[in-house]
Amino acid sequence: MSADTDAGPMIEIADLWKSFGAVEVLKGVSLRVGRGGVIAIIGPSGSGKSTLLRCVNLLEEPDRGQIRVGGREMKFGERRRSRTSDRELAAFRAATGMVFQHFNLFPHMTALENVTAGPIIVRRMSRRMAEAEGRELLAKVGLADKAEAYPTHLSGGQRQRVAIARALAMGPAVMLLDEVTSALDPELVGEVINVLEKLATDGMTMILVTHEMGFARVAADTIVFMHQGQIWEKGPPSRLFNAPATAELASFIDAILPVSPEVTHPVG
Ligand SMILES: Nc1ncnc2c1ncn2[C@@H]1O[C@H](COP(=O)(O)OP(=O)(O)O)[C@@H](O)[C@H]1O
Ligand SMILES: [Mg+2]
Repeated sequence: MSADTDAGPMIEIADLWKSFGAVEVLKGVSLRVGRGGVIAIIGPSGSGKSTLLRCVNLLEEPDRGQIRVGGREMKFGERRRSRTSDRELAAFRAATGMVFQHFNLFPHMTALENVTAGPIIVRRMSRRMAEAEGRELLAKVGLADKAEAYPTHLSGGQRQRVAIARALAMGPAVMLLDEVTSALDPELVGEVINVLEKLATDGMTMILVTHEMGFARVAADTIVFMHQGQIWEKGPPSRLFNAPATAELASFIDAILPVSPEVTHPVG
């Protein structure tokens, strides 16, 4: 254990900028997440939430700014770019486990094979050790009995839990989760949320983009509201949901929270 990874925030994003052609998507985003912190990012479609997570995982290369995860730091901008080796990029990327809305499991592999492929191929772990760890991780997400099942024989919620186990198998320092419950039938959302709550309780540092406001309220210590490529508002769930400081957040909350039955008007 080195001292540099034990002090300060686990994730530090500083003045991050990203454009796609003429479209400026991230406009100077800065965010710190403490060790074991859970941040929920909310905001309208197109506000840059996915791009922010993809930048932290280096699936997109930021135009400028800085990202630090644990003891590893990346600076972006013209002068630095040529100096970053593929190896540095891979090591940085491995520190962040990413889970997407669509599970992206390998269809021709069992649940266990999906979970062990990364450790065996990328981390060069022995098959025996990878399988032992893989079974533990499947048990952790409640799928001990589905190790030999193929994705087509699993429900959406089960597939997403395999995807979470697969990300954990790489031993990430932090987890990034992009709308991981959005593609699920409503009755399957709870089982995935339970797994995420357990991860949070275990002390995993997480940034999650979610539409599940009930979950965000309970599991996140900080809510970040993104709007037009910027962090518009940030604070504890109770403050953001009960007393939004900006008109943009107030109208976003009005639009997404279910209307209570007594004020629902009959349609037609
Ligand atoms: N690879 C890309 N190429 C071009 N435009 C993109 C790309 N990825 C995202 N965008 C644009 O960036 C904006 C933000 O997208 P995104 O980060 O996916 O927002 P969110 O996740 O908040 O809905 C959108 O206008 C989107 O069309
Ligand atoms: Mg998105």
